[in-house]
Amino acid sequence: MKLTLKKGSIENAPKGCVRISFTDKEKGTKRCIQEHGIETLELGIGKSEEMNLRQFRILCRSVVAAAKTNKIQKIALQCDATPKLFASLKGVSAEDLVQTLAENFEMADFEFNTFKTRPKEGWPTVEEVLVYGESSASIEKALKKGQTIGQAVNACRVLANTPGGDMTPITLAKAAKEAMKGLPVKVTVLHHKEMIKLGMGAVLGVAKGSSEEPTFTVLEYKGGKGAPIVLVGKGVTFDSGGLNLKPSSSIYEMHMDMSGAAAVIHAVALAARLKLKQHVIGLLPAVENMPGNNALRPGDILKSLSGKTIEVLDTDAEGRLILADALTYAKRFNPAVVIDVATLTGAAMVALGEHASAVLTRDDVLAERIARDAEASGDYVWRLPLWDEYEERVKGTFADLKNVPGGSGSRLGGAIDGGMFLWQFAKELKCPWAHLDIVPRMTAVPSDALAKGAAGEPVRLLFRFIETRTSDVQVQKLGHRMS
Ligand code: BES
Ligand code: ZN
Ligand code: ZN
Repeated sequence: MKLTLKKGSIENAPKGCVRISFTDKEKGTKRCIQEHGIETLELGIGKSEEMNLRQFRILCRSVVAAAKTNKIQKIALQCDATPKLFASLKGVSAEDLVQTLAENFEMADFEFNTFKTRPKEGWPTVEEVLVYGESSASIEKALKKGQTIGQAVNACRVLANTPGGDMTPITLAKAAKEAMKGLPVKVTVLHHKEMIKLGMGAVLGVAKGSSEEPTFTVLEYKGGKGAPIVLVGKGVTFDSGGLNLKPSSSIYEMHMDMSGAAAVIHAVALAARLKLKQHVIGLLPAVENMPGNNALRPGDILKSLSGKTIEVLDTDAEGRLILADALTYAKRFNPAVVIDVATLTGAAMVALGEHASAVLTRDDVLAERIARDAEASGDYVWRLPLWDEYEERVKGTFADLKNVPGGSGSRLGGAIDGGMFLWQFAKELKCPWAHLDIVPRMTAVPSDALAKGAAGEPVRLLFRFIETRTSDVQVQKLGHRMS
């Protein structure tokens, strides 16, 4: 999508461009007007005093969606000509507004077309947008930045949407390399042999049932000095459940079980592309969870990289197993903070519905920072507890830990059990840690006004978190509050 800032009034827009205008008519109303050869698409936005940044994001997307359904390829809009309608957004700076607009325009223009035959008339995407209004170097910069962020979100969506047969752990590692092309990011891929040597028993255990070799990819972007932010992304390229095979009703979208890894890849790439002065590491444990003849059996005991042993009561709770080794691996970087991102539990969606990912952490300050960056970025989160009271449930009977509580009441608070299991490894890090369970936001819902499939979350949140991290001193202080 070509996005251009134009000084002045939309009246100067060229004839071939359809002008977008906003009215206070009911939300969702659309009207096409033709006057003196000028086409205008009028969109109702409802009560203007209700407009906030959350609604503005959706509004931006519906502009592009409306243009797409009407097969309009070039649009023009005035960003500052409707002060009455946007008065309630006055607290938002012009830069933030333009960045948000660009991000969401890009996100809304995306369709996952990789496997579709191109129609003769081309894809119904918006090719050019002219944004009329105020212009300055900083607004221009904000527009470019927003566009780059939107493109990173879309690149994440491509990876997550790619079918399991086309996206194996090896392909995922290759995709990570590809994403870093031309960027100052070091990519190292650990293969089967190296993983055996290191003793990554948990990752290797999950990989046993598949003929696809596991990988463990390490990304390093050193844009700044000091202890790094370590991001860990779950990379299960297909989750059949293993011997605890998933029923038909829940197996369908399991090629997207590497959405955490996809988000980490594109958050790191974005940090490098936008030259953030931060030190960032991405860790991507990748496996395929299959019920092959060498598969992990329920009841098997794994020895993790940390040395802790794990009883596998359910082979479908595989994400926490591979993340356990990745969290232990993170230790060698002496991180300032660690965040893992995973499509870990359906229970997170039972708890929160489809509009927020779950955040689980023992560190209140980190929780607040993530919540703040979530709100500001558009990738929303809500916190669930990780209190001591829940810890008993992950203690093992015949090993140190078990991957699910088992027995009656096993399914209660499943997202917390997942987080509590990870905490058993994260506590060894001696730095603040948070777990994002992104199942609720893995795919877009109709109210997102995005194409079906991967939502590309939480790329914007991770980027914002990296961008707004102030200093090591502050993060170290966070460490003292760890419990
Ligand atoms: N990959 C799934 C979680 C998931 C569910 C992702 C729905 C996307 C959509 C995860 O590995 C899993 O199977 N979790 C189990 C945990 C259970 C066995 C404790 C679940 O959610 O049922
Ligand atoms: Zn699973
Ligand atoms: Zn899974």
